[in-house]
Amino acid sequence: MDYKSTLFIKEHRRIIIYIKQRELEQRMNQTLLHLENVWKIYKMGEVEVPALKGVTVEIKKGDFVAIIGASGSGKSTMMNLIGCLDMPSKGSIFLKNKDITKLSESNLATLRGETIGFIFQQYNLIHSITAFDNVMLPLEFLEIDDKTAYERAKKILDMVGLSDKTHHLPTQLSGGQQQRVSIARSLAADPEIILADEPTGNLDSVTGKSIMEMFHRLWKEEGKTIIMVTHDLKLAKYAHTTIELKDGEIIRIDKN
Ligand SMILES: Nc1ncnc2c1ncn2[C@@H]1O[C@H](COP(=O)(O)OP(=O)(O)OP(=O)(O)O)[C@@H](O)[C@H]1O
Ligand SMILES: [Mg+2]
Repeated sequence: MDYKSTLFIKEHRRIIIYIKQRELEQRMNQTLLHLENVWKIYKMGEVEVPALKGVTVEIKKGDFVAIIGASGSGKSTMMNLIGCLDMPSKGSIFLKNKDITKLSESNLATLRGETIGFIFQQYNLIHSITAFDNVMLPLEFLEIDDKTAYERAKKILDMVGLSDKTHHLPTQLSGGQQQRVSIARSLAADPEIILADEPTGNLDSVTGKSIMEMFHRLWKEEGKTIIMVTHDLKLAKYAHTTIELKDGEIIRIDKN
């Protein structure tokens, strides 16, 4: 190869690296989620339980966030609000610049369906249908044809390393495999945000670590925004941002 072509290739590579870096920076500059003075007060008869007390935080697009804190500190409450599964008692939540407290039920359901994939501690799979059909479920709500849906479900199950288990029922799978099906299901509609509440809570530490490695890859390579709750400080280290809750308040935000 002559000197000129080598120079050209080098310059080309340099430009690509620069563009990728800029893309990452731009992604991280956009606020995806903004909680402003958010309160959640549960009412139990006469008693009021303040589970979140004026939480204000911004989560950028493309971040990997771990929410930590003692049992009862408000982690699941915060996740339910972020996931638009519940509404705050006071304050505002902006998801992609839309105030979710002001959206109609149906607009909220659409925004949630398009933007968020959920992963739960208990996997929440449907036990009477196969792993494959569990992953197909969220695709049925999208406007895509059957063939595309089928191909996508197949590809995602392959990605989580379960291509040989697609026809198993959830009860015929190990805990780690079930959680991988639920990760595949959460990815099916290609959401921007993945919300996971104690995704490794029922798994042994080796399987838990492999799930974290999967999240890390989805974050780094696929540009997903990941928000997870964990008790395990070792697993929280996989995240880029750590938010610590105590008695319903944020007491620390750390960047890794
Ligand atoms: N539906 C509810 N009704 C009344 N109180 C509730 C309800 N859900 C949660 N709480 C209370 O709100 C507080 C926060 O609960 P939350 O489930 O958010 O905690 P957590 O940090 O997720 O805990 P854990 O680590 O045990 O899952 C707790 O005091 C809890 O008892
Ligand atoms: Mg919880």
